[in-house]
Amino acid sequence: MVVFSDAITLVGLLSLASLSYRFFSTVWLYLLRPSTVHHYLHGPSPYALVTGASDGIGKATALELSRKGFNLILHGRNEEKVKKVASEIRAQGSRDVRYFIADAAQGGHNFANLVQPYKDLNITLLINNVGGTHMHGERIDGVPESHLQDTVNWSDMFGLFLTRALLPQLRQSATHGPVMVQFVGSITADIFPPRLAVYAASKAFLRTLSRSLENDEKVWGTPTGVKFAYLTVGEVQTNGQPCEETIMSPSADTFAKALVAKVGCGQKAYAPYMPHALGQWVLSILPEGIADSFVADSMTRALALHKKSI
Ligand SMILES: NC(=O)c1ccc[n+]([C@@H]2O[C@H](COP(=O)([O-])OP(=O)(O)OC[C@H]3O[C@@H](n4cnc5c(N)ncnc54)[C@H](OP(=O)(O)O)[C@@H]3O)[C@@H](O)[C@H]2O)c1
Repeated sequence: MVVFSDAITLVGLLSLASLSYRFFSTVWLYLLRPSTVHHYLHGPSPYALVTGASDGIGKATALELSRKGFNLILHGRNEEKVKKVASEIRAQGSRDVRYFIADAAQGGHNFANLVQPYKDLNITLLINNVGGTHMHGERIDGVPESHLQDTVNWSDMFGLFLTRALLPQLRQSATHGPVMVQFVGSITADIFPPRLAVYAASKAFLRTLSRSLENDEKVWGTPTGVKFAYLTVGEVQTNGQPCEETIMSPSADTFAKALVAKVGCGQKAYAPYMPHALGQWVLSILPEGIADSFVADSMTRALALHKKSI
């Protein structure tokens, strides 16, 4: 009997310790921790590479990184738009800005060729931001197979193969300081929205990929020092998500500031923007049925907004 009650006390204490640790690390991450993004400014002329950088979160992140002192390699699909962002960044200061064009939704790119022009550059940050899906509002058998394939290319394969092609030089950069690869995910991976199954699953793929790649770089051989992080993103006001700006749905600029401020925070999967983290937590503690119907209601709203914007 005594052994049983001791075991209960021990479990209680362990749970309390774990809850306290989570609470204090949350307070530290969102309210106290100073930004350490400058730790990635090391070696000769450091660069950040941002995909999907001609608009939305990618563009805002590129601008914020340039304000923090990074040279930039931008990726986009529309050369005119990317060129405009490059000029905007150059006008902010004396940064070197380069760019490349590739439609991420299409498969079959030669990634070695895409990164060839940058192979001697000291890239210390890679933000795999590009991703998305065609919004049909249909079940998967009402969506063309090619559009489902596009989603996987766009959100998963492009970042995966780009990272693969860049890894040797990222390891090289990691010989003189920290190097980080980030995958921009989505809260949809945790809340299972109807009509977005493949997109949500494509983001869950990134979370597993990111954690596993970090271990890959660490074990069986000399650790390379290249680190990975998966970012949970809730709603952000962009052309791709034309919602009203609120505290839960910040502008891309507000979101990008939070993203950049938390680069190198030491967590492997996290929501850079505090209200998104709170929303994610609330949904995780709700009973499944209630959470699912809340998410279904949000999807109705998202689909209506999307229809209005096209
Ligand atoms: N906004 C949100 O509410 C939200 C929520 C969760 C997750 N996310 C994730 O955050 C990331 C950025 O989202 P966002 O809302 O900023 O996106 P966005 O505004 O729709 O577009 C961002 C960028 O991606 C580029 N892009 C789009 N399709 C492309 C393609 N097939 N090939 C190459 N580039 C392409 C766009 O180019 P153009 O300028 O040519 O259009 C633009 O530069 C995505 O991974 C998305 O899944 C966003």
